[in-house]
Amino acid sequence: MIDDIKSQLEKSCPRMVSCADILTAAARDATILAGGPFWEVTFGRKDGKISLASEANLVPHGHENITALVQFFEARGLDILDLVALSGSHTIGRSTCYSFIDRLYNFNGTRKPDPSLSYSFLNLLRKRCQRVLDLVYLDVITPRTFDSTYYTNLVKKLGLLSTDQSLFSDARTSPFVQAFATQPFLFTSQFAVSMVKLGNVQVLTRPNEGEIRVNCNYVNTI
Ligand code: HEM
Repeated sequence: MIDDIKSQLEKSCPRMVSCADILTAAARDATILAGGPFWEVTFGRKDGKISLASEANLVPHGHENITALVQFFEARGLDILDLVALSGSHTIGRSTCYSFIDRLYNFNGTRKPDPSLSYSFLNLLRKRCQRVLDLVYLDVITPRTFDSTYYTNLVKKLGLLSTDQSLFSDARTSPFVQAFATQPFLFTSQFAVSMVKLGNVQVLTRPNEGEIRVNCNYVNTI
């Protein structure tokens, strides 16, 4: 879909709109289509001139503790409230079983399941995860709707990733989880604010920085 948007834009206004801007706008529009909030997207980001597969992997993978997540976010100018609000995007989408399989059989090397996982959810996940690349909804209750059910799930021990569930057990993050679980509008309005912040992290905007890619899959050759 990003490639389709890009090729249409290149036809009508070549080398004007970056892939970074397309992705930022598409994330906002997809959120609205799923029932989530609107936020204003500013434009003018450039694309990087270097693209490394190894850098795409430098994101949290679902096994981190809250301290590591907080540090990762803070290094990018995002605070604990942003961490909890942006994690709410796991109200849609899926995860491979690979990302949480340890919770089902051998949590932290204990050879037992994660005690913070509901027993019925544990049994469901064991059935759904026949192979590590099988996919499971991140929000088991309303997987296709952008809503605050992600947070009520955490209160009921229905978080899929260990990092999701930890947001409810850690004292630094649980007050925000409880606020979002009980006040859906608080979540959607904070999500919009945090997405604007996320969309401004490490952006390239100066004249001598970056480029407008012609094809989002490759850096420009000329
Ligand atoms: C708090 C730190 C985060 C962690 C540890 C995390 C971890 C993960 C993991 C492990 C998956 C599943 C990957 C797989 O096995 O296929 C996933 C999926 C997803 N994440 Fe996150 N994530 C985080 C933050 C975010 C943020 C900030 C956003 C967006 C604002 C986001 C949006 C998504 C979406 C939409 C999916 C589903 C993708 C799909 O269905 O293909 N996540 N995340």
